[in-house]
Amino acid sequence: MVSAALKLEPELEALPAAEPLARRTEIALRNVSVAYPMGREGVKTVLSGIDLEIAAGEFVAVLGETGCGKSTMLRLILGQEFPSGGCVEVDGKPVKRIDARCGYVPQKYSLFPDRTVLGNVMYGPENVKSGMLGRLRPSYRKFKRELRAEATMYLQRMGLQTQDLSKYPHQLSGGMQQRVAIAQALLMRPPVLLMDEAFSALDPSTRANLQEQLHAIWQESRPTVVFVTHNTQEALLMGSRLILLGRYQEEQSHRNNVLLDMKIPPSRLPFSRRTYSNEFQELHDYVKQIAYKSSSMNREEDAAQPLTLEGNLR
Ligand SMILES: Nc1ncnc2c1ncn2[C@@H]1O[C@H](COP(=O)(O)OP(=O)(O)OP(=O)(O)O)[C@@H](O)[C@H]1O
Ligand SMILES: [Mg+2]
Repeated sequence: MVSAALKLEPELEALPAAEPLARRTEIALRNVSVAYPMGREGVKTVLSGIDLEIAAGEFVAVLGETGCGKSTMLRLILGQEFPSGGCVEVDGKPVKRIDARCGYVPQKYSLFPDRTVLGNVMYGPENVKSGMLGRLRPSYRKFKRELRAEATMYLQRMGLQTQDLSKYPHQLSGGMQQRVAIAQALLMRPPVLLMDEAFSALDPSTRANLQEQLHAIWQESRPTVVFVTHNTQEALLMGSRLILLGRYQEEQSHRNNVLLDMKIPPSRLPFSRRTYSNEFQELHDYVKQIAYKSSSMNREEDAAQPLTLEGNLR
């Protein structure tokens, strides 16, 4: 792992310490490995020797080239998949199944085709509560009214219009479906939010709006977020910590996928102006360089790929 001993600009060094994060460890991966059987070819090791502790309230942005195991890592935390070695804990307990502690926006989201936008978003909490309250009781009607208002608020924060709420998934663009999937996860108010390339299908201006909204939601309620993206700028803008994964290679001396694990210094600038600061661009270049040096394209001595500020790792 490369240690992130960045020299910060005086302005950043002078910043007051960020709001203290709770020390409690929310997510822990302890010596985790994942290897898939490949028939006669033996096994394919995807993750190896991963040791990570994520404190409650951190916003961890995960970057890494395609196929390095980002989605696999999220599925381990979610409990959709289990490690071949080591263990994964959420809130101090080993992860044994998918449960309400983790909200998840998958890379390939799917909505219920026969439910409206609002119906899709309300489905989870409605189902949890309906057993407890009984659909005919007055308290259930109140709960439903409040839930509808909250679902509408999250959908609006995700940029959907009132007239979109009664539409069915087939009437929505891919980007709109993606935003419904995000609202769905947020409405459950999970202590842990796992997001896998959640903004990938969005045009740049919608993406910028959603980045700001999600960041605001994180600051308001401080869930622990693990946010996978291919976009270095987005990772540095959103995260309080950045983890760069690399593809596992047998010949690696350290045998670990974590190439970089660093805190992201907080910024005083308004959210929309942060990417323009010199400090931000320095950090961006630094991360891009490490990502580029370690990428398999580079290992294969592929043609030099220009590093641009807007560029993605993919
Ligand atoms: N069930 C499986 N069986 C065999 N190989 C698998 C399985 N699931 C994932 N893999 C392999 O594990 C590697 C990591 O997959 P993963 O989806 O975690 O990558 P990723 O970093 O999320 O990539 P991307 O950026 O393209 O989404 C890939 O090479 C993939 O083919
Ligand atoms: Mg993936």
